[in-house]
Amino acid sequence: MKCFWLLAVLPLLLLATLRPILAHSSQVNNSNRVRCLERERQALLNIKSELVDTYGRLSSWDNDESKRDCCEWSGIQCHNQTNHVTRLDLYSFGLRGKISTSLLELEHLRYLDLSQNLFEQARVPEFIGSLTKLRHLNLGSANFYRPIPRQIGNLSMLLYFDISWTGCYSENLDWVFNLGSLEFLNLNHTNLSRANNWLEAVSKLTSIKELRLHDTSLPEIPLSLLPEINGSSPLAILDLSRNPNLSNSLKLIHWFSNLSTGLISIDLSNNNMHGPILDVFENMISLEYLNLGRNNLEGGLPKYFGNLSSLTVLHLGLNYLAGDISELMMNLSGPVEKKLEYLKLYYNNLSGLLPNMSRFSSLSTLRLQGNQLSGTIREDYLQLPHLTLLHLSSNRITGPVPNLSFCSSLQHLYLAENMLNGTLTPSIGLLSRLRVLDLSVNKFLEVEFSPHWVPLFQLEYLSLRRCKLWNFPTWLKTQKRLACIDISDNEVSDMIPSWFGGIASKLIYMNASNNQIYGFFPDLRDSFLPPNSFFGTKVLDISRNKISGSVTFLCDSREWKLLDLSDNLFSGQIPDCFTNLRSLEYLSLANNYLSGEIPYSFGWLSDLTLLHLHNNTLSGELPTSMRNCTGLEMIDVGDNRLTGKIPDWIGDSFPELRFLILRSNAFYGSMPSNLCRLPNLQILDISSNKVSGAIPECLKLTQP
Ligand SMILES: *[C@@H]1O[C@H](CO)[C@@H](O)[C@H](O)[C@H]1NC(C)=O
Ligand SMILES: *[C@@H]1O[C@H](CO)[C@@H](O)[C@H](O)[C@H]1NC(C)=O
Ligand SMILES: *[C@@H]1O[C@H](CO)[C@@H](O)[C@H](O)[C@H]1NC(C)=O
Ligand SMILES: *[C@@H]1O[C@H](CO)[C@@H](O)[C@H](O)[C@H]1NC(C)=O
Ligand SMILES: *[C@@H]1O[C@H](CO)[C@@H](O)[C@H](O)[C@H]1NC(C)=O
Ligand SMILES: *[C@@H]1O[C@H](CO)[C@@H](O)[C@H](O)[C@H]1NC(C)=O
Ligand SMILES: *[C@@H]1O[C@H](CO)[C@@H](O)[C@H](O)[C@H]1NC(C)=O
Ligand SMILES: *[C@@H]1O[C@H](CO)[C@@H](O)[C@H](O)[C@H]1NC(C)=O
Ligand SMILES: *[C@@H]1O[C@H](CO)[C@@H](O)[C@H](O)[C@H]1NC(C)=O
Ligand SMILES: *[C@@H]1O[C@H](CO)[C@@H](O)[C@H](O)[C@H]1NC(C)=O
Ligand SMILES: *[C@@H]1O[C@H](CO)[C@@H](O)[C@H](O)[C@H]1NC(C)=O
Ligand SMILES: *[C@@H]1O[C@H](CO)[C@@H](O)[C@H](O)[C@H]1NC(C)=O
Repeated sequence: MKCFWLLAVLPLLLLATLRPILAHSSQVNNSNRVRCLERERQALLNIKSELVDTYGRLSSWDNDESKRDCCEWSGIQCHNQTNHVTRLDLYSFGLRGKISTSLLELEHLRYLDLSQNLFEQARVPEFIGSLTKLRHLNLGSANFYRPIPRQIGNLSMLLYFDISWTGCYSENLDWVFNLGSLEFLNLNHTNLSRANNWLEAVSKLTSIKELRLHDTSLPEIPLSLLPEINGSSPLAILDLSRNPNLSNSLKLIHWFSNLSTGLISIDLSNNNMHGPILDVFENMISLEYLNLGRNNLEGGLPKYFGNLSSLTVLHLGLNYLAGDISELMMNLSGPVEKKLEYLKLYYNNLSGLLPNMSRFSSLSTLRLQGNQLSGTIREDYLQLPHLTLLHLSSNRITGPVPNLSFCSSLQHLYLAENMLNGTLTPSIGLLSRLRVLDLSVNKFLEVEFSPHWVPLFQLEYLSLRRCKLWNFPTWLKTQKRLACIDISDNEVSDMIPSWFGGIASKLIYMNASNNQIYGFFPDLRDSFLPPNSFFGTKVLDISRNKISGSVTFLCDSREWKLLDLSDNLFSGQIPDCFTNLRSLEYLSLANNYLSGEIPYSFGWLSDLTLLHLHNNTLSGELPTSMRNCTGLEMIDVGDNRLTGKIPDWIGDSFPELRFLILRSNAFYGSMPSNLCRLPNLQILDISSNKVSGAIPECLKLTQP
C-alpha cells in the first residue's frame, strides 16, 4: 500500500520542487525605458522589506539601477498604457513575514495572489478590503489564521476569492452579501461552524459559478428555515463535502436546484448521510460529476439515473448500497451509458455476478472492490476499449482470470483477494499498457509462465502474493520499470537468478518473504542506481527463505526504511556501513548465522524503532553508539554470545523502549538500577546470563 502511495505522490513532489525554478525564469529587462511608476516602485520595495524571502524569489525587486523597471520584477504586471501595477502574483514564493500597508499604494491592483506562502500564522490584513479594484484575490494555503476580515465584503468587483486551507474562520457570512459579482468562492477547510446564515449568504451570490465549502464544519439548516430564493444564479460546481453535520444535504439539493440554472458538479461525499438516495437529481441533464461517496447510504439507485445523459463521474463508494449488482446497474440504463467514464461502487454490500458492462462505451475506471461479487467474469462483459483501471479486488469471484485483451487501454488491473483459480494465461501479456498488476491472495491461481515468455507490458507494480508460484519468474528480466514487487507467501524454491541484481537495484519495495528461495542476494552496490531516483521509503523483506552469503549488500542504499532478512542462512559479519541508512525504522536480522560484533555505526540509526538480532552468534559488547538510537521501542538481541555488563545508559537513552530482550547471552554484573527510568518498559528478559545482585525495586513490583 505504501508503494501505491509513493507512485501516486511522486509526480506531485517533483512538480513541487520544480515550480520555483520554472517561475524564476522571468528576466529583468535591461533596456533604459522604465515603465514603472516611482510611487509604486517604492511601495513594492517597502512590501519586500517586511517580507522574509528565504528562497530569493524577490531578488529582482531591487534598487539597483539595472533593475529599475518594477514592471519587469518577478510576480508583477503593469497596465500596458497607464503602467500602474495591476497584478501581483506571489504564488508559492515561500515567503514569510508581514504584509505591509504599502500594498494600499497599489491602488490599481486587480489581481492579488498570495497563496502557498508561510505568513507565520498572521491574520489577513483588514486593509485588503480597501483594494476596491480587485477582481481576483487568492489567499489560500498561506498560513493565515484568525477571522476572515469582514472588509473583504467591500470588494464588490471581486470575481474570484480563495482563502482555503488556512486556519481562518468566520462567525457569520454577512460579508458575503455584497459580493454580487463573485463567480468563484473557495472556503475549503476554513471553520464556518457558527455561520448559521451560510445558505442565505449563498443565495445572495447571484453570479456564483463555483462554490467550495469542503470541510468547513457547516451547521445544519433545518428544512423549515431554508432561505427564500430571489432569482437564480449560474452555480455549476457545488462542493459541500466533508461536513459531518450536513446529514440532510441530499435534501438541500432541491433548494440548490431551484437556485441554479444548471448544476454540473455536486460533491456531497463524507457528509454522514443515511437512508436511500433520494429523487433529488432527477432531470439534472447537465450533471457531469456526482460524488456521494463515504456516506451511509442504503438501498440501490433510483431509476432516473439512466436519464442523466451528461454524467461522466459517479462515485458511490464506501456506502451501504446492497442487493444484486445487476439490479442496480439496470437503473443505469439509457442515455447515461454513453458518457459515463468513472464508476465507483467500491466498499458497498453488492452481490451477484458481474453484469455486462460493455454498454458503457466510454468507461475508463471501474472500481467495484470490497463487495460480495461472485461467480466467474465473462470476458464479453468487459469489452471496454477505453478502460484504464479495473478494480475487482476483495470480492468472491471464482474461475480463471479473464482474457482482457480487448481492453487495450488497461493500465491498472486489481483482482486481489478473490477465489480465482486455474492458470494465468499468456494473454495477460498482450495488455501492452499495463503498469499495475495485482493478483495477490488468490490461493488457487497458478501464475507460472514459461521461462521464455515476453509480455508486451512494462510493469511498475506486481503482486503475486499468496498465489501459486513455484519458480522465480524469469520474465521479470524483461521488466525495466518495476518499482514494487511482492511474491511473498508462495512456494518459490528456486535460486535467485544472477540477472536479478539489475532489477533489485531499482526497486523501492520488495517482498519475497516466506518462500524457499536460496542462493546469494545480488550485490546491489555494484549496480547502477541513479542518485535520488526514488526519494522516499524503501522496503526489503526477504525473511523466511534459505538465502545465504553475507549481508554486505545492505550497504548500497541510504534510503531503506524496513529491512527484514530474518530466518535465512546469512553468515559473516554485519557490515559497519549504517551511517548510510539513516531512514531505517525496522531492522531484523534474527535467526541467521551472523557473527562478530554489533557495528558501531548503529549509532546513526536515529529513526530505528524495532531491532531484532536474536538467534545469531554475535559477540562483544553492545556498542555505546546505540545510545543515539533514541526512538527504539524494541531491542531483541537474545540468543547470541554478547558479553559485558548491561550498560547503564540503557536506562537513560530509550524513552520509548517497551521490549528489552537480552536473554541467553553472556552478560554479567549487576542490573543497572536506572532500568527503572524506562517509562514504557513492558517486557524485560535477561534470563540465561550471568547477571547477579539485586533486582531493582521498581521491577519487583511488576513481577508476575
Ligand atoms: C524589454 O523592453 C523593450 C522595450 O520596451 C522591449 O522591446 C523588449 O522586448 C523587452 N525585453 C524583454 C526581455 O522583455
Ligand atoms: C493592452 O492590454 C489590453 C487588455 O489586456 C489589450 O487588449 C491590448 O491589446 C493591449 N495593448 C497593447 C498595445 O498591448
Ligand atoms: C468596509 O467594510 C467595513 C466593515 O464591513 C465598513 O465598516 C466600511 O464602511 C467599509 N468601507 C468602505 C469604504 O466601504
Ligand atoms: C477545494 O477547492 C479546490 C478549488 O480550488 C478544489 O479543487 C479542491 O478539490 C477542493 N477540495 C479540497 C479537499 O481541497
Ligand atoms: C470550529 O470552531 C468552533 C468554535 O468556533 C470550535 O469549537 C471547533 O472545534 C472548530 N472546528 C474545527 C474543525 O476546528
Ligand atoms: C454538529 O453535530 C454535533 C453532534 O450532533 C453537535 O454537537 C455540534 O454542535 C454540531 N455542530 C454544528 C456546528 O452544528
Ligand atoms: C428579493 O429581492 C428584492 C428586490 O431586489 C428585495 O427587496 C428583497 O429583499 C429580496 N429578498 C430576499 C429574501 O433577499
Ligand atoms: C423550489 O421551487 C418550487 C417551485 O418554485 C417550490 O415549490 C419549492 O418549494 C422550492 N423548493 C425549495 C426547497 O426551495
Ligand atoms: C427518462 O426520460 C424519458 C424521456 O424523457 C422519460 O420518458 C422517462 O420517463 C425517464 N425515465 C425516468 C426513470 O425518469
Ligand atoms: C475453479 O473453481 C470452480 C468453482 O469453484 C471449479 O468448478 C473449477 O473446477 C475450478 N477450476 C480449476 C481449474 O481448478
Ligand atoms: C535459529 O536460527 C537458525 C537459522 O535460521 C534456525 O535454523 C533455528 O531454528 C533458529 N532457532 C530458533 C530457536 O528459532
Ligand atoms: C550520535 O549523534 C550525534 C549527533 O546526532 C553525532 O554527532 C554522533 O556522531 C553520533 N554518534 C555515533 C556514535 O554515531
